[in-house]
Amino acid sequence: MTLPAFGHLAADRGIRVAEPIGRIVSIDKGRHLIVGQREGKGKTSDLVLIGKCLEHSKVADRYDWNVWLDTSFPHVVFIAGTRGSGKSFDIGVLVEGLLLPPSSNVRTDGPAPAVVLFDLQNQFWTLARAPDADLEEDRNHVKGLDAWGLKPGRLDAVRLFIPPADPKLIGSEQELAIATTDLTVDDLCSFWSLDRYTPQGNLLAMAWQKVAQTGYVATGNGPNREGGPRQVDPSESFELGDIIACLSTDQEIQETIASQVIDALRWRVQSLERVGIFRATGLPVRDLISEGKATILLLRSLDDPTKALISGLLLRKIYTVMGDHHTRRRALRRLKRPQDGKDSLPNRVWAVVDEAHVVCPTDRDSPATRSVTEYVKRGRDAGLSLVLATQQPSAIDSKVLSQVDLALIHRLTFEGDISAALARIPSYLPGRYTIGTSQKEPRAIIRLLESGEAVLGDSQADRAFIVQVRPRLTAHGGSEPR
Ligand SMILES: Nc1ncnc2c1ncn2[C@@H]1O[C@H](COP(=O)(O)OP(=O)(O)OP(=O)(O)O)[C@@H](O)[C@H]1O
Ligand SMILES: [Mg+2]
Repeated sequence: MTLPAFGHLAADRGIRVAEPIGRIVSIDKGRHLIVGQREGKGKTSDLVLIGKCLEHSKVADRYDWNVWLDTSFPHVVFIAGTRGSGKSFDIGVLVEGLLLPPSSNVRTDGPAPAVVLFDLQNQFWTLARAPDADLEEDRNHVKGLDAWGLKPGRLDAVRLFIPPADPKLIGSEQELAIATTDLTVDDLCSFWSLDRYTPQGNLLAMAWQKVAQTGYVATGNGPNREGGPRQVDPSESFELGDIIACLSTDQEIQETIASQVIDALRWRVQSLERVGIFRATGLPVRDLISEGKATILLLRSLDDPTKALISGLLLRKIYTVMGDHHTRRRALRRLKRPQDGKDSLPNRVWAVVDEAHVVCPTDRDSPATRSVTEYVKRGRDAGLSLVLATQQPSAIDSKVLSQVDLALIHRLTFEGDISAALARIPSYLPGRYTIGTSQKEPRAIIRLLESGEAVLGDSQADRAFIVQVRPRLTAHGGSEPR
């Protein structure tokens, strides 16, 4: 298909690089660059418009060329930048590009994936709204769309989930409920920074096993042990309250474990129970991932470890379900049997985590780091992409970042963050830039970028280049308060 035409960059920043962007897929007619394309070089399906090339080079100048991302292969996208540099905006650009119809011009044809967005600041519900020229904060936004020849848009298929204790923001949010049985003892140990082999860690494993697998004998719980002893059978769908009951009444625990240890663990379990998300039955993960739909988890009210616990757990469920789905598809293909669509799952999932340093930090053991690492490792086989955005590139676990194949680095100011971000650009960075008449090193350029401008590094291209990210078609929920 012929790719659409757009308006032009408004102001030339006069950024120049001596060497051209050599090895990159380009379509001269209409002036398009395609990043992230591993196979079928030059194919035009499954593309999402990212923005335009903002730099000049002496030969083969690509200034103002449209930059598209091929989304037919799984990607690990890393977005870094200081406050207000455009990270959340990029996430909006990517998500709407994955899900809007091709008539929006920001996406070409091809099956839409499912998107699951871990929204740690409750700002992405606006994907379901078009920018509104009557609102002061949206006025420039609408003008920017006009300049690019784009029309405002909104996503129809957005589902919002919110912790049960939170007041609803929009009214259409559903309660976020996760089955307690989806938690593991290891999840909870890292959530509470407990070594599994400490008295509390050991007691947790013991109680979990009794409630889930073996059952136990409960003493009565009154001062004279009224009502006991009685047998409590194991359960396939239990609640945190059942773990608390086991800690309080199991005969063996009462007789062999020090009461301070029991109390300390019980208080921990009780405080997690009060969050209200972990239930006897939870939302099936299949309900969170459906083709062409965005699921947005509004997690702002939770503390950081709980955000990480929930994100890690859901990512694990997604890679397990999607891994099984693709194993089955591959087997049917090899056996030359028709794909029966029995499991009604999408073939591709994009998980998106804004403020990713909360979910997989370098400095502490987060329950999610293992899941995120595993998600990324299995991604290629299971059709899984991941987008991670952060203000602190040095604060994200390096096991995760070593898998990045596409980076968008916005303005950064601190030396440590610049070094950490540059180390994660999966392609060569030019040694020298010129702006106007002055020569700048890449580090200086990163300090000078304006909101919405970024260095784009793609493992498929021979060097990184500077882009202007396109305007969003949907409303941006992250603007400053008025
Ligand atoms: N591509 C863009 N085009 C036009 N304006 C943009 C673009 N990207 C960002 N902006 C402007 O910059 C503002 C801040 O962007 P954004 O909310 O994405 O910042 P952020 O990097 O996520 O910051 P924080 O770390 O504080 O969350 C936006 O409200 C918008 O006005
Ligand atoms: Mg943001």
